Amino acid sequence: DKGNYKHFMAKEIHEQPEVLGHTLSRYFDYSTNQARVAGAEHLNFKNLSRLIVTACGTAYLAGLVSKYWFEKYARLPVDIDIASEFRYRETPVSGQDTALFISQSGETADTLASLRYCKEAGAAIGAIVNVPESTIAREADMVFPTIAGPEIGVASTKAFTCQLAVLAALALQAGRERGVLSAEKERELVAELTEVPSLALKALAAESDIVKLALPLSKADNALYLGRATSYPLALEGALKLKELSYIHAEGYAAGELKHGPIALIDENMPVFVIAPHDAIFEKTVSNMQEVAARGGRIVLITDARGASESGNAAENVVIMPEMSDIVAPIIYALPVQLIAYHTAVFMGTDVDQPRNLAKSVTVE
Ligand code: M6R
Repeated sequence: DKGNYKHFMAKEIHEQPEVLGHTLSRYFDYSTNQARVAGAEHLNFKNLSRLIVTACGTAYLAGLVSKYWFEKYARLPVDIDIASEFRYRETPVSGQDTALFISQSGETADTLASLRYCKEAGAAIGAIVNVPESTIAREADMVFPTIAGPEIGVASTKAFTCQLAVLAALALQAGRERGVLSAEKERELVAELTEVPSLALKALAAESDIVKLALPLSKADNALYLGRATSYPLALEGALKLKELSYIHAEGYAAGELKHGPIALIDENMPVFVIAPHDAIFEKTVSNMQEVAARGGRIVLITDARGASESGNAAENVVIMPEMSDIVAPIIYALPVQLIAYHTAVFMGTDVDQPRNLAKSVTVE
C-alpha cells in the first residue's frame, strides 16, 4: 500500500524518520547512552586485527561508510569489497576472522556465496539484513536486523539508512570493547545519534528545493557526484541512484580524485553534486568545488547553513541541510541524495519503483 504517495519509493523515503527511530532504539540504550548490540560478543571485536565487510550495490556503500566509523571509533581496520569480487579473489580468511554481510533482501547470490566462503574458512559470520527469514539470515551465526519494514521500491532507501544505523552501533560497540572509545565519548556520540529521526524530518523539508533541480538535471546526459570521507560513499550512492532511476549516466568520485582524471569531463553541460557538510575537511572539498566552477561546471552543493556561507559563490544551487555532528551526517545526507534521483526520475517519467532491467532481489550472479 502506497498510502498517499505516488510511488513506494516516495513512501519509503518519507518513512525514514520513523524507521530510523525504531532501528536506533533497538541498538542503543538511551538510559545509559551506550551501544547495546545483542549478539555482538560473538563477533570477537576485542581481538580482531581486521574486520571483513562484504555486500553489493547500495548495501556495499553502507559498508563503505562503516569502514570510516570502525577505523575512527574502534581503531579496527576494515577490508571491504563488493561480493562479486570478494567471492572469486581467493582472499585468505581464517578461523580468527569475523566477516559481516549486509543485504536488504538477504537473498543476493554473490553476498550469500561470499558468506559461505567465509563460513567454510571458519570465520565468525554476522549479517545485517532487512528480511529476517532470508537465506543470509539463516546461514549467519549472528543476525542484526534492520527495522526498516518491507522495502518494495527497487531502489534501496530506508534499508540503506537503517543499515547505517546498525553499523554505527556496531562501530561504537567495537570501540568500547577494544578500549579505544571512552565512556564519555560514547555517550556523546549516542546522544548525537538520538537526534537522527528529528534531523531526518528536517532534511526532508528540503524536498521543495530539490524538486526544482529535476528539470535542469533531466536535460543532462551525465552527472558527477563528489564527496570526501563518509560523504564519498554517499557520492557513489547518489550516482548509483540517479543511474538506476533516471537512466542518466552518473559517476561518484572522491573529491580529491577529481584532478586525477575526471576533471577533464567538466564543461558547462556537466551538473556536479558536491556533498559537503561543514566538517573538518570542508575546506578541502570547497577547493575542489572551485576547480569545477572555474571550468564552467554547474554545481549543486549539499551542505548546512555554515557550509553555504563559507562556500563562496561557486555553487549555482545550494540544498541546505540542518546542522549536525559528523557521525549522523552520512545517515541524514542520504535523504537529499535519494530525493534528487527520485524527483528527476518522476520528472522524466521513468518507472520509479521498477526501473528497467532491474530486480529487487538479485538471486543470480
Ligand atoms: O538485497 P541487497 O541489499 O543484498 O541488494 C543489493 C543491491 O542489489 C541493491 O542495494 C541495489 O544496488 C539497489 N537497487 C540500489 O538501489
